[in-house]
Amino acid sequence: MRVGFVGWRGMVGSVLLQRMQEERDFDHVDPVFFSTSRAGGAGPPIGTADVPLRDANDPKAFAGLDAIVTCQGGDWTHAMHPALRAAGWSGHWIDAASALRMNDDAVIILDPLNRGVIDEARARGAKDWIGGNCTVSLMMMAFAGLLERDLVEWMTCMTYQAASGAGAQNMRELLAQMGEAHLAAKALLESPGASILDIDREVAGILRDERFPTEHFGVPLAGSLIPWIDKDLGNGMSREEWKGSAELNKILGRGVVPPEHAARASPQGGPRPPGAAKPPIPVESICVRIGAMRCHSQAVTIKLTEDLPQAEIESLIAGANEWVRLVPNTRDASIRHLTPAAVTGKLEIAVGRVRKLALGPGYVGAFTVGDQLLWGAAEPLRRMLRILVGR
Ligand code: HSE
Repeated sequence: MRVGFVGWRGMVGSVLLQRMQEERDFDHVDPVFFSTSRAGGAGPPIGTADVPLRDANDPKAFAGLDAIVTCQGGDWTHAMHPALRAAGWSGHWIDAASALRMNDDAVIILDPLNRGVIDEARARGAKDWIGGNCTVSLMMMAFAGLLERDLVEWMTCMTYQAASGAGAQNMRELLAQMGEAHLAAKALLESPGASILDIDREVAGILRDERFPTEHFGVPLAGSLIPWIDKDLGNGMSREEWKGSAELNKILGRGVVPPEHAARASPQGGPRPPGAAKPPIPVESICVRIGAMRCHSQAVTIKLTEDLPQAEIESLIAGANEWVRLVPNTRDASIRHLTPAAVTGKLEIAVGRVRKLALGPGYVGAFTVGDQLLWGAAEPLRRMLRILVGR
C-alpha cells in the first residue's frame, strides 16, 4: 500500500510517526512524504531514503497513492480533499482534522469502540476516515465498557483540557506564562518573611498586565483557567461541547446530532436521526482549558440504564480494552496515578474516582485522564491504516 503523509512534521504528525515506528507500521506500508512548504527537501529517514518531499499543494503529486494520512489541519483538508476527489483520486483519506468529520460519507474512527461501524462502512465503499475530537475519543475509551453494553442513558462531562489541544504554540505560551508568573513573585518568594498575600498580589498583577504573553490563548491560562473552548455556537454552547454529543453518537452509529438539537437533547434521548438504529445518547459538557501540557481530564456523571452494583461497574470499565487502567478510589492512588503528570506520554487511559452517587439509583461519578496526542489524536489514525492494510 502506497501511503502519502502530509503534516508529519507538526505535533500530532510527529507523535504519529513515532508511534508508527514503535509499532513497525512502516514494515507494511510504502510511505511517500509531502510538504506544503518544503517540497524538494529531504523527508524523514523512513522508507526509501533520499526521495525528495513531494508538493502537498499539487493534486497531481498524489496520483497513484492508495491512501493519504494527513495531520496538516483543516484548511489543507478543505482545499485538497475536494480537489483530489474531483480529479478522480479514490484512495483512502485518513485525517486528524475535524473538517470532514460530520460529512455523511465520513466515518469517525475509534476502532476499539466502533470496529463494526468501520467494517460496515468499508463494505459500502467508504473512503474517508476521520479521527475524532480528542476529548470525545478519550472519554469513550475510558467508558467503553458501559457504552458498548448500551448501559449509558445520558452523561455529563466536565473537562479539564490541556494546552496541547489548542496547539504547539499554546503549549509554549503556557510555559512562558508560568515563567512570567514566577518571575513576578521571585524576589518575594526568596524572602522567607514575605507575606503570601503580597506574593499573590504580584502574581495577580502580572496576570492582568497587558505585557503578559497571551498572543495565542488571548487571556492568562497559567494561574487561571479558560472556561470556553472552540467557537461560540450562539446557543450557550461551545463547539467543543457540541462535539461531545454529536461525535459520540456518530462514532457509535447512533446518528448525527445537529447543534440545534444538541441544545434540546433530553434525558429521554432527543430526536432519532434518520437511519440510526438507536436514539442518540444525550451528552452534556462544560469544556474548560487548564494548565496541563498534553493530558485531557474529565469528571463525568453517568446515568446508567440499570442500577448495577459498584463492583460490576468497575469490572465493566476496567475490562473494556487493554488501555483502560482502573485507579482505586483512594486519596493516595488518585493523586499519584489519576493525573496528567502520571499519564502524560502513555497510551493508558486512567479511570478512577468511580463511585455510585447519592443522587439516585444508577448515578455514577468518575474521573478520567488520557494523553490527547496519543489516543486523542495519533493512535486511531495509525490503527485505521493497519485495518486497511489488513495486518
Ligand atoms: N479541540 C481539542 C482541544 C483538541 O481544544 O483541546 C483536539 O480535538
